[in-house]
Amino acid sequence: MGNVLMRPVLGIESSCDETAAAVLDDEGRVLAESVASQEAAHAPYGGVVPEIAARAHLALLPDLVRGVMARAGLEFDALGGVAASAGPGLIGGLIVGSQMAKGIALARRLPYVAVNHLEAHALTARLPGLVEGGAPFPYLLLLVSGGHCQCVAVEGVGRHVRLGGTVDDAAGEAFDKVAKLLGLGWPGGPALEKLAAGGDPARYDFPRPMLGRVGCDFSFSGLKTAVAQVVGRLGEGALPAAVAADVAASFQRAVAEVLADRAAHAMAMMRARAPEARLLVVAGGVAANGTIRAALREAAEQVGFTLVAPPVRLCTDNAVMVAWAGIEHLRLGLVDGLDFSPRPRWPLEGAEIGR
Ligand code: KG4
Ligand code: ZN
Repeated sequence: MGNVLMRPVLGIESSCDETAAAVLDDEGRVLAESVASQEAAHAPYGGVVPEIAARAHLALLPDLVRGVMARAGLEFDALGGVAASAGPGLIGGLIVGSQMAKGIALARRLPYVAVNHLEAHALTARLPGLVEGGAPFPYLLLLVSGGHCQCVAVEGVGRHVRLGGTVDDAAGEAFDKVAKLLGLGWPGGPALEKLAAGGDPARYDFPRPMLGRVGCDFSFSGLKTAVAQVVGRLGEGALPAAVAADVAASFQRAVAEVLADRAAHAMAMMRARAPEARLLVVAGGVAANGTIRAALREAAEQVGFTLVAPPVRLCTDNAVMVAWAGIEHLRLGLVDGLDFSPRPRWPLEGAEIGR
């Protein structure tokens, strides 16, 4: 059976500090998309301030939505549905995005989809153009962002099994905290990667938490503490640039090795569940890191998996993935009621069909 023809879908993302909207056609082609980062608003506080985020979403979203609709050349009546991230995330922003989606759906009598943000990351690999013919289920997802760090067996739309995750910090959080120690500002990941490029990754022998441990859980707080101790020992105030670069490179290598090891374990677990599984998909802001991508690619190839690393703009929070998750749900006839309440906590395994 071919896909039932569907009209374009509007997606809205507002779960953290990116305000985003996108319109995709029924085959997943992007007709228009827009992401407004609130980075500058939160940077003075060294992290995302929920109340500032919610207000910024409220201020930015109406024009963003109007803008993508105009660029897609569509009136709301031409849509086949509206999808918005409904969790997990910061409740203020989730309410803003969900209410906007519901308002449009109600006014134009359109189907509404409450998207699990983690599922949107998970389904990104199935967008046309990334894997020829679209990534087939099942595949392994490694989600590594500022808020999430987990391995998930993606077995179908609404069918996810969490294989392991962090017992303390997320990988992105570790990057942000170490960047702060090095005086790099927030968010720290991109700045730290840049600094590390000129450093010696073998200079400091930082711990590799969980390396070799059974399963695929992660831990990053011990590594962060070890870096803090070394930075403390190196003296007061700003480190010489060359020393900071060595710390950054050594830390980055430790994270890359841990992620590669955990991914290797997760791939073995995935094989045991589904011998036909061949793909390791990475998502989340940390997947933008070149050293980490290279380490994961090598780990995947060693066991006959292929790494699928979407372009960075699709790894970090965006609305293309939300619209796409909406399309995948609508294709299966999965529509949500307008009484669906946004969920600050919404584990992927609770996102089953028929919730
Ligand atoms: O997925 P994302 O945009 O937002 C969520 O956390 O949901 O991920 C942001 C995180 C931040 O912790 C940021 O420091 C990290 O991803 N990050 C990176 C890089 N770019 C972003 N970490 C390491 N290397 C990078 N190039
Ligand atoms: Zn995200």
